[in-house]
Amino acid sequence: MLPEAAVIDHAVALLQAGELVAFPTETVYGLGADAANPAAVGRIFAAKGRPADHPLIVHLPADGYLDHWASDIPRQAWELTEAFWPGPLTLILRRARGIPSVVTGGQETIGLRVPAHPLALTLLRAFAEAGGGLGGLCGVAAPSANRFGRISPTEAAHVRAELGESVRLILDGGRCAVGIESTILDLSRGAGEAPRVLRPGAITPEQIATVIGRLPAVGSQPQDARADAVPRVPGALAAHYAPATPMRLLPATDIARLASAPATGRRCAVLCHSRMAAETAALLVRQLPADPTRYARELYAALRELDQSSAELIVVEEVPATAAWSAIADRLRRAACGAGGVGKCLPAA
Ligand code: TXA
Ligand code: MG
Repeated sequence: MLPEAAVIDHAVALLQAGELVAFPTETVYGLGADAANPAAVGRIFAAKGRPADHPLIVHLPADGYLDHWASDIPRQAWELTEAFWPGPLTLILRRARGIPSVVTGGQETIGLRVPAHPLALTLLRAFAEAGGGLGGLCGVAAPSANRFGRISPTEAAHVRAELGESVRLILDGGRCAVGIESTILDLSRGAGEAPRVLRPGAITPEQIATVIGRLPAVGSQPQDARADAVPRVPGALAAHYAPATPMRLLPATDIARLASAPATGRRCAVLCHSRMAAETAALLVRQLPADPTRYARELYAALRELDQSSAELIVVEEVPATAAWSAIADRLRRAACGAGGVGKCLPAA
């Protein structure tokens, strides 16, 4: 194995040349490219099979680079970066002049974050030191390193399984500590409008309120959910994060009944967090921790594993309807909606 410094040099050379590098963040693995290089960003969309009007998050080495990418930065943004960066919070701000529109999906706003994973920070800093890509803007665009609409990768092996040879280098930083994608907070709507959480994540509205002095609104606005509207947050599409196997969410009591039901011949996989019945020939059981932080860390790997089992249906035990579980509940709802093309779809929120 190459020493880390040599691997980072190789990764930086690839980014500078407009190639793709997958890297770990504390949330999920990202598929990175020089965010100022439209051809490089185009490769991300091609590798993911992602529609071109879906904007990407740009990752920065430190908050000092924010004004390369954003303009009209409100005071609240600086307060939040001070409190939560590096960390799992993405800020949506007005984009600076000259930013290629391919990275923003044609929008006037841009999503920015400084990730907390040490390998991601090492990569971003080394990229900046080596010139920082076209125009010296030092931003690495990186969506989650999965095929569009599928489960986000939380281990290097998941990235290889999802994207194969279309990514030249995958930096392996082990399993992601957070396990679900960053909280996205929209601060671009001007002083008159409350900041809005577009995607829930590990940083909660309550934590944001302790910094900016008010609770942000939560969810996309109704006009954003119009059928013909550009999806500001594909992660907010009703169907996303989905396994290929059909998936349903059920309360624990119904799952207990599944275990005692006479065999139907269909093999079913159960993902639970409270104490459940033992496995049977027809029932594969995977237990996750009952604590939301640890549950989030293991969720995507577990879903991936069950998706690859011989089960014809994945049944997930509903999680508690409390603030601590809300980001997980959000992902499970969307995953069930997209899974195997069935499931009960909710309107995009
Ligand atoms: O934790 C994360 O955020 C991970 C890691 C790799 O950083 N990244 C991630 O990227 O989840 P992606 O592309 O899978 O999801 C980014 C979300 C998308 O739903 C996108 O629509 C939204 O961010 N987004 C990006 N720019 C935006 C903008 N200008 N306005 C609204 N939403 C935006
Ligand atoms: Mg994604």
